[in-house]
Amino acid sequence: MRGALISLAMVAPVLSWAAPAPSPVTFYKHIAPIVYQNCAPCHRPGESAPFSLLSYDDVKRHAPQIAAVTKSRYMPPWLPEPGHGDFAEERRLTDEQIRLIQDWVKAGMPAGPPVKGQAPPTFSSEWQAGTPDLILHVSKPYQLAATGGEIFWNFIMPVPITATRWVRAMEVRPGNPKVFHHANVVLDRSGAARRQELVPGEGFSGMDLTIEEETFDPDGHFLSWKPGSKPVEAEEGMAWRADPGMNLVLNVHLRPSGKTEIINPEIGLYFTDRPQTKFPMLLQLEHDGMIDIPPGEKDFLVTDEMKVTMDLNVLAVYPHAHYLGKLMEGYATLPDGTKKWLVRIPDWDLSWQGVYRLKSPLFLPAGTVVSMRFHYDNSAENPRNPSNPPREVKGGNQAIDEMSHLWLQVLPAQGGDQRAKLQESLVRQRLEKYPDDFSANYTMGDLLLTQGNAPAAAEHFEKASKADPNSALAATEWGIALFSSQKLPEAEAQFKRALEINPAYTDARYDLASVEASGAKWEAAANDFRKAMEERPEDSRARQHLGEVLVLWGDELFRANRAEQSLARYREALQYRPGDAQLHGKTGVALARLARLDEAQAEFETSLRIDPKSEPAKQTLEVLKLMKAQPK
Ligand code: HEC
Repeated sequence: MRGALISLAMVAPVLSWAAPAPSPVTFYKHIAPIVYQNCAPCHRPGESAPFSLLSYDDVKRHAPQIAAVTKSRYMPPWLPEPGHGDFAEERRLTDEQIRLIQDWVKAGMPAGPPVKGQAPPTFSSEWQAGTPDLILHVSKPYQLAATGGEIFWNFIMPVPITATRWVRAMEVRPGNPKVFHHANVVLDRSGAARRQELVPGEGFSGMDLTIEEETFDPDGHFLSWKPGSKPVEAEEGMAWRADPGMNLVLNVHLRPSGKTEIINPEIGLYFTDRPQTKFPMLLQLEHDGMIDIPPGEKDFLVTDEMKVTMDLNVLAVYPHAHYLGKLMEGYATLPDGTKKWLVRIPDWDLSWQGVYRLKSPLFLPAGTVVSMRFHYDNSAENPRNPSNPPREVKGGNQAIDEMSHLWLQVLPAQGGDQRAKLQESLVRQRLEKYPDDFSANYTMGDLLLTQGNAPAAAEHFEKASKADPNSALAATEWGIALFSSQKLPEAEAQFKRALEINPAYTDARYDLASVEASGAKWEAAANDFRKAMEERPEDSRARQHLGEVLVLWGDELFRANRAEQSLARYREALQYRPGDAQLHGKTGVALARLARLDEAQAEFETSLRIDPKSEPAKQTLEVLKLMKAQPK
């Protein structure tokens, strides 16, 4: 017994000595899984990264560099700080993984025995989610010069559909991912993007994109793309609406590659029969109006706050600044004082911006205050500072301007469509911040108009128009609010002003024609409906209204005993309303008045063919026959 004890005590250290040494770090066993999972989506042929990491040789060739960029956490690119928001698709190595890479490089990068069943990941060179239901193309590819600065370009992509469809997923195919770094997609139902083009069909430049919407119709989706990302799938019930005549605007950030490149992106849309049942909304914190950063300033703080007025779930966040952004924080303070992080980015880098979707929704009860605190470095020490020497920087959408935006995608907890209510509370807060602001007044006007409060809406559109006297849209909306308040001459003046700003603005033309028609200005109304019809032949409304106006005009002329002119109006109206029995009757009456009895009879017969039960037509026809039977 005793001997056994002694031997155990003696053996223990020997045992630990003899225990298998920690197995050496080898490529196939340890490194390949890390690289295939976290690096290969971008480091593969045809993608944005400069070399592939799909084999032992690839990784070995770049090993020292890989050890350095993973240790510094430059790669994989991932901006949010862990522990400050829990995001899906997080692309971040663990400390353990980083250490394994270091050890492997120190050990001389051994391959080790291949692992059974392991293979480099394969990627579809086709659409990742299968063949799309509809592929959108740009009207004209963009030719990127070999050298020069970064370019922000907006492609306009028409959506060729004839009926409303619901989109459940979208995939962007950059066509040339090497120079194509990040893209946002904006829906444009108003044609506003087209009006920004210098040459029709060409697209236009600009770093950030806002689309003036004619109606309050926010889509509530972040449609963005970044290298290595999966197609954007909408959650169940959150399909978005595609309407005929709508454009998608693809806002891209391009980097010259050293040779001329042709950029010809495509967007694939995947439809569903299930319409939207959940209505998320995008909330924006921003304070660009506060941005005025003196040159050399190392820590300029921009803040904004928003009070949440109903229970909400946050689904995703999208922080945005340009090149001077450094530390960017977004958090929520619940009514009980608890602080919940939305996102924290210690070292902002525009190149790697993205939308961060939360792993699970974050509940914010009504009364929560959401805060944005963005810090900017406008010193020469900031390597990303686009101005050297630094210059004064203000808010704006050029690369040398700055921005401070924190967008949240939220879903009201109580269900149903709460967007108008939510929007109203937000716009009220925004009006407190910027009483004369264009978009706050514009949106408020829109909301009031939908609620049927036209006079109050008119006041806000007036302010919006004063903030931007060159906005044809604001002038038109102001006109609509005046029109709905029965102020016809004032409304007419605004529509005319809108057309002075933009003579090709068909909506204003159409509205002008309508207000003229209401004021019995038949000739002017007919002319403007005719123009609107020429500009937008596919829209049947102008044609229909032109017909109505011509009939009313004809009636007035007839009452004034000008049967000849009246007949001309009715005849033109018949081109637009060939199946209108009553109008054939009116034409017949005018012809009878002019003693053209045969033609009159033909009109009444047509009228009766269309509407065989019409008593007045029958009777008039009888009278006509009697008249014709009378001896001359
Ligand atoms: C989201 C896409 C993406 C992912 C994921 C990614 N990279 Fe990169 N990587 C790039 C791009 C783009 C560049 C070139 C631009 C740059 O260096 O900023 C790059 C550059 C590099 C470089 C060269 C850096 C230099 O200083 O020139 C190395 C090394 C590298 N990546 C390693 C990795 C490793 C290792 C991983 C995974 C752990 C990884 N990358 C994941 C996109 C990615």
